[in-house]
Amino acid sequence: MKDDSRYDSYREDVPGRANVEDTPELIEYYRQLERWDAGALWTVANKIEPWEPKSESVPVVWRYRDLREHVLRSVELVTPEKAGRRVIYLNNPGRRDVSAAVGWLYSGLQVMHPGECASTHRHSASALRFIMEGSGAYTIVDGHKMTLGANDFVLTPNGTWHEHGVDSAGTPCIWQDGLDIPFVNAMEANFYEVHPDLHQDVTHPVDLPTATWSGTALLPHAHGWTKPYSPLFKYEWGSTYDALRQLAGVSEGSPYDGVLMHYVNPVTGGPVMPTMGASMQLLRPGQHTLAHRHTGSFLYHVAKGQGYSVIGGRRFDWQERDIFCVPSWAWHEHANLSVTDDACLFCFSDLPVMKALHLYREQPLADNGGQQKVLST
Ligand SMILES: [Fe+2]
Ligand SMILES: [Fe+2]
Repeated sequence: MKDDSRYDSYREDVPGRANVEDTPELIEYYRQLERWDAGALWTVANKIEPWEPKSESVPVVWRYRDLREHVLRSVELVTPEKAGRRVIYLNNPGRRDVSAAVGWLYSGLQVMHPGECASTHRHSASALRFIMEGSGAYTIVDGHKMTLGANDFVLTPNGTWHEHGVDSAGTPCIWQDGLDIPFVNAMEANFYEVHPDLHQDVTHPVDLPTATWSGTALLPHAHGWTKPYSPLFKYEWGSTYDALRQLAGVSEGSPYDGVLMHYVNPVTGGPVMPTMGASMQLLRPGQHTLAHRHTGSFLYHVAKGQGYSVIGGRRFDWQERDIFCVPSWAWHEHANLSVTDDACLFCFSDLPVMKALHLYREQPLADNGGQQKVLST
């Protein structure tokens, strides 16, 4: 913790690092610089250039059994019209100043009752939704209406007009929203717009993106798609789980992640959106992965099963519908506690940003047989 009366709190007695001790003459000099909105780099250099990434985020598990009743209660307290979006957001204790769940990623749980519909809007932030419970949910993106069931995942990329709702014949629906709002705000590039008609027309057959783009390894001829995000928009749970099971039948997968598959843009094979990527991984019954760490912020959603993850030396138990985060450069490993059933973890992250900017770095844990010593639970 920096002592405000001192300028040498970040000194390090290491060759090549700033190591200047305060003197009355230097303190007077620093104060003169402050008057001109300037400062001496050596007083802050070791702070702003740490030896390795130092995340402000802390590992957290948000348990659905704790949050669900509060999410449902918001229905009695506010209307979607008044709230804009009726969402309980995940507020990482280390990132409250930017309302992030982890790093520069925002996430929240949104609830909607049958017949309700949020107004159409668009923004520079990119968004995704992962459906948790209920039937009849839909999203409309640029005139494409997509029907959604549990564990389906849908995109609302940067700049697209979108609205969410639940058909009047459906049941109350809860889903997880994931957005790069804190990142776009950090880049000071966020715009927000409400549709002039408040709603948009459905201008294409329902679920057209799924019909057009979900052929495995098949690309429609002359598709004409040039936008920087996936034209598939919706990724269904059934085909995702099938793909994981098939791969698990022929591959050991990764020692750090089990059988991990990335959702991709079928045109490029790249991430679903330029700023956020998503994946689903399968942990075999009883599997306990090795630990590694890497740059990037990751938000996991337990799509299936129960187990725990060790993050930064702490054990976090999870079960279906729980959400937990892995901050950048935190050691992590995952364990499936069932000896009979697989466990599946959905995850979204800022990996596309890390990779595009050449900031991605990964390291396996060398000590202790490759798994962390659990410091506390
Ligand atoms: Fe939105
Ligand atoms: Fe990882």
